[in-house]
Amino acid sequence: MNLKQLNELSCDRANSYLKDSLTKYSPADTLHEAMLYSLFNGGKRVRPMLVYASAQIFGPISPLTDASAAAIEAIHAYSLVHDDLPAMDDDDLRRGKPTCHIQFDEATAILAGDALQTFAFEILSNPQLSSPKSQLHLIQALSHASGRHGMVTGQMIDLASVNQNINRETLETMHRHKTGALIRTCLQMGAISTHCDDKDALNKLDEYALAIGLAFQVQDDILDITSDTQTLGKQQFADADANKPTYPKLIGLEASKKLVIDLHQQATAQIQTFGEKGQPLVELANYIIHRNH
Ligand code: IPE
Ligand code: IPE
Ligand code: MG
Ligand code: MG
Ligand code: MG
Repeated sequence: MNLKQLNELSCDRANSYLKDSLTKYSPADTLHEAMLYSLFNGGKRVRPMLVYASAQIFGPISPLTDASAAAIEAIHAYSLVHDDLPAMDDDDLRRGKPTCHIQFDEATAILAGDALQTFAFEILSNPQLSSPKSQLHLIQALSHASGRHGMVTGQMIDLASVNQNINRETLETMHRHKTGALIRTCLQMGAISTHCDDKDALNKLDEYALAIGLAFQVQDDILDITSDTQTLGKQQFADADANKPTYPKLIGLEASKKLVIDLHQQATAQIQTFGEKGQPLVELANYIIHRNH
């Protein structure tokens, strides 16, 4: 499977699963609209691609894989809606469109984020999936990565670090939590969805995930200063203007680019062992470090 095929498969399957799961619930039309807006306003769907790329190594893609991809994208969408709020990054533009709180209002964006978060666990706990043990495992993995052990802690460090001089170790901890943790979980969830219990393979996948998860956020930091607003679909220099700690700011642009390449090499070295089946993950790693938005 090449990257284009993986992208088509992931978008088709994750989007239909999200649409089918987000059945209309009419007493609060605006909440439903804001959730739809945040899920379907043009995200790259990198996290679902990682879930499917991982799953196809170990077994057939199943409804449990679809549920995993959809759930993680719902958590990602929620994280972005809250990330853009005035109390956080205060951004007006996301994916080339007004951010959720600009399109609707701040209270709606807070509630849409809350509802997207619980929607993820509604998807994973659906009794129709009929795999209670794996479902519990998936719920545990996703809640661990998105809450206090992962994304939320990273966001907390991020906000506490504005206008501060943090050291490289703290910056790495922040990036590994705010972005790396969810990316890492994509690979784990893909494997869990196939009931894989090959410890050796899972360790290799985890090493890949750790490296590519950090590379993803370092590249995001780089793009803040090297890509333009139209290409990015978000405001160029948002980090620089808000005096956020980033890799280019701390170690310089060239050293950041080199770090991304080194992390890419570390990641891809881990999945040689999967041969042809690992190819989609190699292509995804290439995409993650060469993307321009
Ligand atoms: C943006 O993630 C937020 C970060 C964790 C850096 P993406 O670059 O995957 O955003 P979308 O979903 O494609 O808009
Ligand atoms: C986002 O980090 C990490 C999240 C958990 C959402 P950023 O604040 O750098 O993401 P962008 O640049 O706004 O997409
Ligand atoms: Mg942020
Ligand atoms: Mg932001
Ligand atoms: Mg950013």
